Order: sequence, then structure tokens, then C-alpha cells
Amino acid sequence: MFKCKTSAEVGGMGHSVKRKEDARFLHGKGNYVDDTKLPGQLHMVMVRSPYAYAKIKSINKEKALAIDGVLAVITGEDLAQYNLHWMPTLLSDTQMVLPTDTVMHQSQEVCAVIATDRYVAVDGAEAVEVDYEPMQAIVDPFKALDDDAPLLRPDKEGQEDNQIYHWERGDRAKTDEVIANADVVVKERIYLPRIHVASIETCGCNASYDKDTQKLTVYLTTQAPHAIRTVVALVAGHVGLSEEKIRIISPDIGGGFGGKVPVYPAYVVAIAATFLIGKPVKWIEDRSENLVNGFARDYHMDCELAATKDGKIQAFKVSTLADHGYTDSSANPSKYPTGMFSICTGSYDYEHAFAELDAVYTNKAPGGVAYRCSFRVTEAVHAIERMVDKLAAEIDKDPALLRFENFIKKEQFPYESPLGWSYDSGDYKATLEKAMEMIGYDDYKKEQAEKRAQGKLMGIGICTFTEVVGAGPSKDFDILGIAMFDSAEIRVHPTGKALARFGTKSQGQGHETTYAQILAEELGIPYTDIEIDEGDTDTAPYGLGTYASRSTPTAGAAAAIAARKLRDKGKKIAAHLLEVSEEDIEWEVGKYFVKGAPEKSKTIQDVAFAAYTNIPPGLEPGFEATHYYDPPNLTFPNGAYICVVEVEEETGAIDVKRFVAIDDCGNIINPMIVEGQVHGGLTQGIAPAMYEGIEYDDEGNVLNGTLMDYLVPTAVESPHWETGHTITPSPHHPLGAKGVAESPTVGAPPAIANAIIDAVAPLGIKHLDIPITPAKVWEAIQAQKAKA
Ligand code: CDP
Repeated sequence: MFKCKTSAEVGGMGHSVKRKEDARFLHGKGNYVDDTKLPGQLHMVMVRSPYAYAKIKSINKEKALAIDGVLAVITGEDLAQYNLHWMPTLLSDTQMVLPTDTVMHQSQEVCAVIATDRYVAVDGAEAVEVDYEPMQAIVDPFKALDDDAPLLRPDKEGQEDNQIYHWERGDRAKTDEVIANADVVVKERIYLPRIHVASIETCGCNASYDKDTQKLTVYLTTQAPHAIRTVVALVAGHVGLSEEKIRIISPDIGGGFGGKVPVYPAYVVAIAATFLIGKPVKWIEDRSENLVNGFARDYHMDCELAATKDGKIQAFKVSTLADHGYTDSSANPSKYPTGMFSICTGSYDYEHAFAELDAVYTNKAPGGVAYRCSFRVTEAVHAIERMVDKLAAEIDKDPALLRFENFIKKEQFPYESPLGWSYDSGDYKATLEKAMEMIGYDDYKKEQAEKRAQGKLMGIGICTFTEVVGAGPSKDFDILGIAMFDSAEIRVHPTGKALARFGTKSQGQGHETTYAQILAEELGIPYTDIEIDEGDTDTAPYGLGTYASRSTPTAGAAAAIAARKLRDKGKKIAAHLLEVSEEDIEWEVGKYFVKGAPEKSKTIQDVAFAAYTNIPPGLEPGFEATHYYDPPNLTFPNGAYICVVEVEEETGAIDVKRFVAIDDCGNIINPMIVEGQVHGGLTQGIAPAMYEGIEYDDEGNVLNGTLMDYLVPTAVESPHWETGHTITPSPHHPLGAKGVAESPTVGAPPAIANAIIDAVAPLGIKHLDIPITPAKVWEAIQAQKAKA
């Protein structure tokens, strides 16, 4: 168990101190992009396509421009003059900023109206007349691959069909051979539906170009300000926007969840507009726009799991069809077009695996964002965890026992997975045992048997997942060529108070508190004396931002190492002050003392003061340090989740009775913040499991584009989450910590799905895709009854 090294006042690792940032949020003083009011700012509203696939015959701006206050209507043709009508996506595809001739999905940006006032801009957008010639949209990704399917992206040289790419990993031949000869093989096509990140704050920007200083400042709801700065410089360098003249400021963010990593077309239009007009241009996406643009998941996975008749897993194969919409704008590392999907072999020890994926174009919104998950880990975990439960059902073995018999053992770490990951540490057995004990697994098994005897439907679902977070080691991970490290810069002022800046950007995760706690742990300066700053590219050191639970594994580690550099410098200063040699100085949190004479000591604050007032001869003045941390490996958080449900046979209604989540994220910086992360993540896990899913009709119209019919769970739908921990420190992270933010979103959906399917299994139902709604359960029950 982790023992705190610091006092509660210092507030280092392991203390559940309250979040420093909450005062401003609770007092309504959060500062979001929409709070920015720049002198003379104009407002931009996008005109969007009602059709999923249509030719644009003409765009008539006249009526819009006649409205008092409407200053400009910007079309794709206008941008084409500056070669700004297309932009690269993070995965080297191309995306329209504004179309010149064709719209590719419903709600695509068609043109932008700029006005003195947002309401006038909305009126202007309604007055723009666009003449469309609708075409038959391709909605079904399987049909997109038909020989006679129209080619959706003729603009791409060499593109002959709608396949974007084929990816594969593992040994196909050997895996096929093992599957062909296995005692038992379970198969299933599992669909992880298209969903929204549905953050409370929508996207937005306020872009301001000063023609005199040639400086572009953009307030932007972005999770990755530095990467965006570089992208803007690369895309718009040819019109004179050079990187040192670009400042991206990411203020408070009301939820990112991966949805605020991409560059959206409206950002580029706003930047182009301020560049041309010379006045700030603000664009704030409305809720309807937010709900029909971008997406996560949308994987159709054909899975096969092979085992001996006793349940020893031997091989796993998964072939996926991924619907990317009309362009591949997934925010994945360059060499990982399918993100970390190859973690799909899970927490189990077997030799043979093969994963392949075909990505296709359809007439849907692009996105493929890593929604609170380390790039497709949610999909991977759902696949293996559903299949393990299917295997348990097939051979009539308790799903917990089956897992225990197949787990990678504690002593096998570091564990080389069949698809090429080196899992750093874990104790899966202990984690599942803890979850089973906490929920009272054996008692529930008995209760289930009794209820089944009475014809009642009760289910117990387990998920024992392994995540892969902390991208990443720069030798393997980059975004658009920029290596994925992260950074911390610490300045300790003469009075011993500090300012630390980071290349990441919190969107509610509590970095202002936890980063200060890391520094408190390492330096002994109270966390309340340390200001944390992120998100301004003019002041923060370069970093790749916050997503995929990477902040603790990367910037958190950078903070620890930068602090250790400071400590080393402090030792020289302490030796000078105490008039002994450096070798005679020892450190304990917060102070340096003379070996064998602890009463002779100097605090870190004394040392900081001396760094500016009484510097040892030959030593550089000041007390500052920076570190860019390139992790040697990713971290592999894991967990065991158990869910108990009851299902009403007559109506399909599902009641989640209990949900226990035991997480192992290594050493914990702030247990209360981690608990908060897990609670929020579990609610974002029940969301796709039981409620959320974007639906389309055959024309490509979104059928549930409002929060009235796209059901985001609230506190009412959320069960009482019961949480706990096991701790297996990461051996390579300087603090032994692993990321945690996404584990619950990854682990909850299969636990819930497994529980519901277990409940209805006595009726002969073997699989249901999420979201498992009462209607879906009811229909499945009726279908079974019809068969009987
Ligand atoms: O990158 P992101 O901040 O979304 O994810 P994270 O690194 O998992 O951190 C989420 C929050 O939990 C941060 O405030 C972390 O400092 C905190 N955390 C912690 O206290 N202990 C851990 N072992 C992991 C995260």
C-alpha cells in the first residue's frame, strides 16, 4: 500500500486535498472561450448542409449580405483563392474546410456568415440560398465496399474504391490454424456504435489577427494547443502565418474527452477571416451542431476466440470494419491508424492473435475521436471481454473462474503480448478477488440461481480489462510527425513559492491540484504555494496535450524529474549555506541537512532564497528547471468491474442493482480526484452501454440529433458507483503512477453488457450489441418466444 511521505499541509502524493481550481468554477468564475470578449470582435455562424451527399449548384449570398450587420459570407470558392479550402487531417487524409462543389455529410459546413452580432449572423445564415442537387448517400459501411458503390473520394489521387486502408497485426496463418484445430471456438459480430462525446461545453474559438504586429492569437477549446499551433503554421504558413507569430490560448474547458483534439473547419475559417478582415472573429458551436458533428467508435468487429474444452484460451482473431465518415480524421498517432486497438488480447495469457481492420468512407460526419479512451482501447476491451463471457457461457464455466484460469500472472510482468505490447505491471488476480469480495460475488451467484428457479431474470457481469495509456515513447508515437513526449517547467521564486507550466491541458481533470501535489512530494513546497499553468503556447513548454490518459504518465513524470533536477541544484546551494561539501548533504522532503547532524539544516525555501541572494561561486543564479519526458514505455492500468442487474421480462426494463469498480492505476497522486475521475468515467461508460448511439436513416439523415432523443445519462440514470483500488506501481514511471482517467469508460460497457446478457441468457439470448435499451431487450425476448 502507498504511504504518504508528506504532511497534509504539504499535500504531496496520496493526500485527498481539495481541488485548487474548484473555487473559481464553483463561484462562476471559470473562463471559457465564450467568455472572451475581444475589442471589435465579429461573430461567425456556419451554414450547414441538410443533405448527406449533394452537389452544390450555386450559393447565393445576396440576401444575407443585404442584412444590416452582415459583413461577409465566406464560401469554399473564396478560400480556394488562398488554397485554404482543404486541410490535412491528423491522419494524413484531407478534409474540406468549406466545399467548392460537393457536400459529403449532413450538417457539413457549407459557408460561413460573419456579422457584428451573433443573432444577425444567424439571420444571415438563414438568408444564404444554396442550390443543392442531392445524391444517394452511402450510409452502410459494408455497402460502401460493394463493387458498384459510387466512389466517394474521387478527389484523392489513386483512390479507386471506398476503402481508406487495411491494417493488420499478428500472425494470421498461425492464429487461423489454432482456431481451426481448437476444441471450442466462439464467434460473434460485435458492433460498437457511433456516439458523441457530448461534453457540456461545445467547441469554439475567438481568433484575432493584429496586422501591425502580424500576430495571430486564437482562444480555442483545444486539448492540444501546441500541436494546433504547429498545424496552423503548416497549413497557413504559405499565406504568412509563421509559428512564432501564432499564439494558441486554451482557457478553461468544459469537457474534452477527445472531441477537442481535432482541428474543425470553422476554426480555419475563423482564422482565415480574422487574417483577411483584421478584426477578431468568434465562432461558438451550438448544441445542435455539436451533436451532429464528429463521432467516436463505430467499429463492426467479427471476433473468434478459441480455447480448449476446459477453457484455456488459445487464440483470438478480430476483423473489423471501421466507418470513418467521409474522411479519416481520427486523432491517432501516425503509426497507429487504429490507435491502440491491438491491446484487444486483453488480460489473458495466450500465444496467438491476429487483428485486422478495414477503414471505409461513408457519407457521415468524420471524427473517430478517442472518446475518453486511449485510441480505440474501448473497442478492443469490449471485443475481448464479451468474447470471454461468451466462452464461459459456451463451456458452462463461471466467468470469474475462467478469467482466473487465463490471467497473465503477477510474476509474468513485464509481459509481451501476442500483438506486441510490453505490459508493465499488474496483479489481475488480486484485483478481481477484491472486486468479488466487495460485491459479494458468491452470494449473488446463489441469489441468481434462486431467482432463475423462480423464472426471474438476474445477471452478473464481469469485465477485467487492461488499458494502454501514456502515449508515448517518441520512437513509436507521433502526431503529424511531432514526437509524443511531454514537458514541465518549474520556477521557484525567491520566497520559496513556485510557478510550474506544462505542455498538457486540463479539461476538468484537476491538474492544477495534482501537478502541484507532485511538486510538493518532490520538493516539499506546500501544494498551495505552487501555481500551475497550462494551455498558453506563448508561455507553456511544448507538449502534445491532454487526451488518452497521458498527462500523468508523461507530464506528471516530467514534473517529478524537473523537480529532482532542482533538488540536485539545491544540494549545492545547501552545502554552500551550511559550509560543508555537497557529499555531506542529505535530503528529506522539504529540507537539506548535514549527514549525521540533522539539526544543521536548510529548508527548500531557504535554498530558493539563496539561489537569488547568496549564490555559491561559479553556480548559475536562479532556481528553475525544465524537463521534457520521453517515456520508455506506456503504462498499463487495469481493473476488475462487476455489475449486477435485474431485467423485467415483460417490458425489457433494466435495473442496475450494483456496480463495483476496482482500478489499479499504480501509485495514486490524489485519491479523491481519482475517485472523481472513476465516477465520471463510469457514467460515461453506462452511456453507450444502455443509452447512446447515433442513428441514421437510409438517406444519411441523423435521426437523433438533439438531446431530447440522444439520451445522455444524468444523475437519475447513474447507479451508485462503488469504487476501490489495488496498487501495482508502474516500474518505469518515476512516481510509479499510471493514467486512470479513461479506465472506467473502457471497463464499464462490457461489464454492463455482460450482466444484461447473463440475465437474459436463460431465454436463449446469447449476445446483444450496446446500447442495450429496454426496447432492444424486449424485442430479443419476443424473438426468442416466437422461435419457441
Ligand atoms: O491525461 P488525463 O489528465 O486525462 O488523465 P490522467 O493522467 O489519468 O489523470 C487524470 C487525473 O487523475 C489527473 O488529475 C491526475 O493527476 C489524477 N491521477 C492521480 O491522481 N493518480 C494517478 N495514478 C493517475 C491520475
